[in-house]
Amino acid sequence: MNSGDETASALGRPWRAPHDHSGPTFVAGRGAWLVDRDGHRVIDATSGALNVFCGHGVEQVVDAYVSQLRALAHVDMSQGLAEPAHLLADRLRDLPGHGGDRFFFANSGSEAIELAVRISSLYWAAVDSTRTDIITFERGYHGSTALCQSLSGLPQTSTIEDRCGATVRHLTFGELAGAELRWPQAREHITAQLRSLLADRAVGTVLVEPFLNVGGGIRLPEGLLGDIRRICDEYGALLVLDEVFTGLGRTGAWFAHEHEGVRPDLMAFSKGLTNGVCALSAVAADEGMLERLPSGSIVSYGHTMSASAAACAAASATLEHMRESGAVSAAREIGTRLLGALSRELRGADGVVDVRGHGLALSVELDGTDSAENVQRVAYDLGAYTRQQGSTVMLAPPACLSGEEEDRLADHLVTAVRKVVAAR
Ligand SMILES: Cc1ncc(COP(=O)(O)O)c(C=O)c1O
Repeated sequence: MNSGDETASALGRPWRAPHDHSGPTFVAGRGAWLVDRDGHRVIDATSGALNVFCGHGVEQVVDAYVSQLRALAHVDMSQGLAEPAHLLADRLRDLPGHGGDRFFFANSGSEAIELAVRISSLYWAAVDSTRTDIITFERGYHGSTALCQSLSGLPQTSTIEDRCGATVRHLTFGELAGAELRWPQAREHITAQLRSLLADRAVGTVLVEPFLNVGGGIRLPEGLLGDIRRICDEYGALLVLDEVFTGLGRTGAWFAHEHEGVRPDLMAFSKGLTNGVCALSAVAADEGMLERLPSGSIVSYGHTMSASAAACAAASATLEHMRESGAVSAAREIGTRLLGALSRELRGADGVVDVRGHGLALSVELDGTDSAENVQRVAYDLGAYTRQQGSTVMLAPPACLSGEEEDRLADHLVTAVRKVVAAR
C-alpha cells in the first residue's frame, strides 16, 4: 500500500492520530476502480466512503450537478426553497419502500440522525413528555456529532462524556458472537431486552441500523426488524431507522426495511444519495406521526447548505441513473454471488470466524484485528481496496461491478486471507 508523504502534508485526518498519514492517496476514480498516486489500480470495494454506489464518475450525475451549479447553486432553506428540492422530495416519495411521506434535507448522515431524533423529541414533547429515553444497539453507529456519538455504545465513539440530555439505553448481543449473531437465539435475546426496556415507560424512541456497519459489519438476525416494529407498536414507541448506510440499494433493496415489510416512523438516509458527488442527507417522516404534532410546531434544525439546489439535482439524477441501470437488482445479484463465493472458499477456514453479508455489504470476520489489517494490506497489493473494521474486513463495492471485476474481487480477498493465515 502506498503512503502519504508525512513530512510534506499539512493534512490532519479525523479518526486517526494527528500525525498519521498512513494509507493510500488516490488521484483518480472511474467505475469500480481507483488509481493511487503510484499508478496502482485497485477495485474500490469501499465505494468511496460507502456512498459511490453506482461507481465513480457517472456522467449523468456529474452533468446534472454542474448544470445546476450554473443555473442556481443554493438559496436559504429557512426563507424559501429551490425547485430541485421539491422535485427530489417528490421523486423520493415515488420510490419503493420510501419509508415516509415528507422529506427533510440535511447534509451528512449525522445531521439526518440529529434531525430524526429532534423530530421524535418534538413528537414526545407534544404527546407524552415523560417518554424522553431512546433505545439503540450498543454496537450501532449513528454518526460523529456529539448527539450521534452519545447514541452509540461503540468504544471508538466514546470520546465526549455526558454529551446529550437524553438517556440512551442499549441493546446488546451479550456473549453471542460470529455466526451466532444470526441465530434465532440472537433474535430472542434482543426482543426480550427490548420488551424489558420498553416496559419502563420513559422510553419513547427506538433507533436501529438494519445492518451494523461500523459495529462490525453485522447482519441482524432474520425477522428481528419485523419483531422490533411489532414491539414498538405494542408499547406505542416510535421506530426510527438509521438507513444512512443501508438506504438506496446497498442491501439489494431500495431500503433495507423492505426485506421485512417494515415501515418506520422516521428514517434517516444519506450514503448513495448523490453517488458521492456532494453532501446530502434526508429524513423521511410518516405523515400520521407528523399530524400528531400541535399546529405551528417547528423543527428547529437546519444548516446553511441544507437542501442545496445543486445537491438535490445531483440526487435526482442519481435516482434516475439507479432506475435506468437497474443498480438495486444488480446489488442483490452481485451480492448473492459474492457471498456464495466467499462462503465456499472461506467459511470454516483457518483464521476465519465468520463470512456474512446482505447485498453489497459483505463481511469476513477474522480471529484478530492484526490479521484483518494484514488481509486489507495484502488485498490492496493484489488489487482490491477493502474496508477494515476491527477484526472484520468488509467489501462494499459499487453496483456497477462487471462479472470479471466481481471474480477478481472475490479472488483477491480469498488469496489475501490464505496468505496472511499461512504466514502466521
Ligand atoms: C449507519 C450510519 N449512520 C450514520 C452515519 C454518519 O454519517 P456521516 O458520516 O455522513 O455523518 C454513518 C456513517 O458511516 C453510518 O454508517
